[in-house]
Amino acid sequence: MQNNTFSGLFVGQNIIALPRIDSTNNYIKNLLSKSEPLPEGTVIMAEEQYAGRGQFNNQWLSEPGKNLTFSILLFPSFLHPNQQFLLNIAISIAINEVLAKIIGSACKIKWPNDIFFNEAKLAGILIENNLSGRNWNHAIVGIGINVNQTEFPSYIQNVTSLKQITSHTFDLHLLLRDFCTTIEQRYLELKNHRAQHHYSFYLSNLYRYNEHTEFQIHQDYKEGKIVGVDERGSLLINIGGEIHAFAPKEVSFRKA
Ligand code: BTN
Repeated sequence: MQNNTFSGLFVGQNIIALPRIDSTNNYIKNLLSKSEPLPEGTVIMAEEQYAGRGQFNNQWLSEPGKNLTFSILLFPSFLHPNQQFLLNIAISIAINEVLAKIIGSACKIKWPNDIFFNEAKLAGILIENNLSGRNWNHAIVGIGINVNQTEFPSYIQNVTSLKQITSHTFDLHLLLRDFCTTIEQRYLELKNHRAQHHYSFYLSNLYRYNEHTEFQIHQDYKEGKIVGVDERGSLLINIGGEIHAFAPKEVSFRKA
């Protein structure tokens, strides 16, 4: 374990770096369940996760020592639990911003929780919230970014890394610092009522926004255009002149 100090106010001021753990999200959850007093902005990073988790009970696979796998503890009690997607937006735009500075504007936020470079996945976000009634107690923001990995198992398709895109090897600690600083900025803006501004930025960086796109909806294929995301985080698609809202499991992008 080690502690580092980053330049921001709180995200990354307390960093716990672990050589090997099941999942950094689980690690925070376990500490909190033992009533460990953890300050907001605590970051857990792991060189290796042996049971990394993705959305929808998927696994998150990452070659040990090559990538960023970390979780941030936040206390977004200033938001109502039905505003959960606002945190997803703030985190997504922060990650996209840092990555786009390195690899340019082909880096997009793919609803609901991915960052893509062209047609390949570069990063994923898993936010796990703890709510009680009208209170949002904490959020564990888990982030996985493919950085220096250049070989992926053949059964994982449409995946890429910063090294594959740029041919450069990145310093993981310097990169983590940039993510922490930018996430903190966007999070503080969210606290300062800048959600509308975030939403505009989100749309302008959203994969396939306002483009003719084929979707798979249940067993059907339909063409439409993404026109936005509603307050619950459902994707809004204009299909034949009507706007339909879809939850994450109800729609997917048709595979080429
Ligand atoms: C996804 O794309 O489905 C989300 C992937 C999230 C992976 C990160 S890696 C750090 C944190 N710990 C986990 O077990 N998952 C998240």
